[in-house]
Amino acid sequence: MTLRKQALLGPMILGAGLMTGPAAAETVSVACGTGVQLELCRESADRWEEKTGHTVNLVSTPNSSTEMLALFQQLLAAGASDIDVFQIDVIWPGILANHFLDLKPYTQDIIEQHFQPIVENNTVGDKLVALPWFTDAGVLYYRQDLLDKYDEEVPTTWDELERIAQKIQQGERTEGNDKMWGYVWQGRAYEGLTCNALEWVASHGGGTIVAQDGEITINNPQAVEAIKEAAGWVGNISPEGVLNYTEEEARGVFQSGNAAFMRNWPYAWSLGQSEESPIKGKFGVTVLPKGGDDHDPAACLGGWQLAVSRYSNNPDLAADLALHLASPEEQKFRAIEGSMLPTIRGLYEDQEVTGAVPFFAQMEEVIANTTPRPSTPTKEKYNQVSQEFWNAVHSVLTGSAEAEAALDNLESRLMRLSRGGRW
Ligand code: GLC
Repeated sequence: MTLRKQALLGPMILGAGLMTGPAAAETVSVACGTGVQLELCRESADRWEEKTGHTVNLVSTPNSSTEMLALFQQLLAAGASDIDVFQIDVIWPGILANHFLDLKPYTQDIIEQHFQPIVENNTVGDKLVALPWFTDAGVLYYRQDLLDKYDEEVPTTWDELERIAQKIQQGERTEGNDKMWGYVWQGRAYEGLTCNALEWVASHGGGTIVAQDGEITINNPQAVEAIKEAAGWVGNISPEGVLNYTEEEARGVFQSGNAAFMRNWPYAWSLGQSEESPIKGKFGVTVLPKGGDDHDPAACLGGWQLAVSRYSNNPDLAADLALHLASPEEQKFRAIEGSMLPTIRGLYEDQEVTGAVPFFAQMEEVIANTTPRPSTPTKEKYNQVSQEFWNAVHSVLTGSAEAEAALDNLESRLMRLSRGGRW
């Protein structure tokens, strides 16, 4: 439609609205995941449609956080109004802040219910860039039935995990399952590898790539040791294919019964416990292992927020939809149906939630001790920092670089990126 036509039609449409009384039904678009995530989002959105009489159009997104960011950046840079509400990763507020509305005016009464550190993470300058929707923490999945069969306990160090994974893998292969693996995780060159590798490094006492105060810390012996150890898993307790796995590929192997251990996020629990799952009732979830008895385990802090586009034609309605999707009722629904961790503290005491997802009882402590990626100090450069990191780690995992040289080189590249040696 030309601008001129629009100008002519505008008053007519407005006039029609006035004549019929209540505002016409509108359509709001939301990007809220793929697969089961999208299905849950649909159910939540249906309830908003019923309440308001408006329509929600769901936009399916790629499953990898890295691909999602690239897509959203493209749309937002073009000022596209196609999507009103975006689900955004916990590491993106600094990267995307300028494209979103300040949600403070909409959330004054409810923001206190949410975990304060996530609210702080989502606040850039004075602006609440996004409303917390669900949080995430890296966890270890283990096959209890196989641990029992091989008379082993849940491992608490990476060395133990390696030994037990090897033992179960060998035993099961000898009994005829030649597809059996010890440990599956996310090794593709993307954001998920940054999370996995951050956990290895931090749980060896090797820091968080860039410290919260901006110092570049990644080039250290503990980090070298951690990444070397992980490289040793590839082709031994983990399939070569792990170098191209995201969360869903790892879950595919574990859920079909072909891995003793898996690193993943809480969402995989619900799917593993579903009626048709071959491992239903056979697995547990716990904290990830640590580098040794003198270290602490580390769980990468993940999670998703809802943000309203500055380019939305319906900002108030879009904000209302975001508030609905992140409300206690909908977070409870997602916790029970999809084992997604609420961002509202009170829900961890809700017996329907803890009854449906028993490991949530353990999760409050895990959440309180998660390891954040360095997105706060590196701000809008975070994705470049992460990309440098995952590429360096990936080159060690594939055997194309030595860990020492890769981290040396990574340090120089981060120095250059930070223009001065620190953030
Ligand atoms: C999960 C986390 C997110 C992370 C991503 C990496 O979706 O919630 O924070 O960036 O995994 O793959």
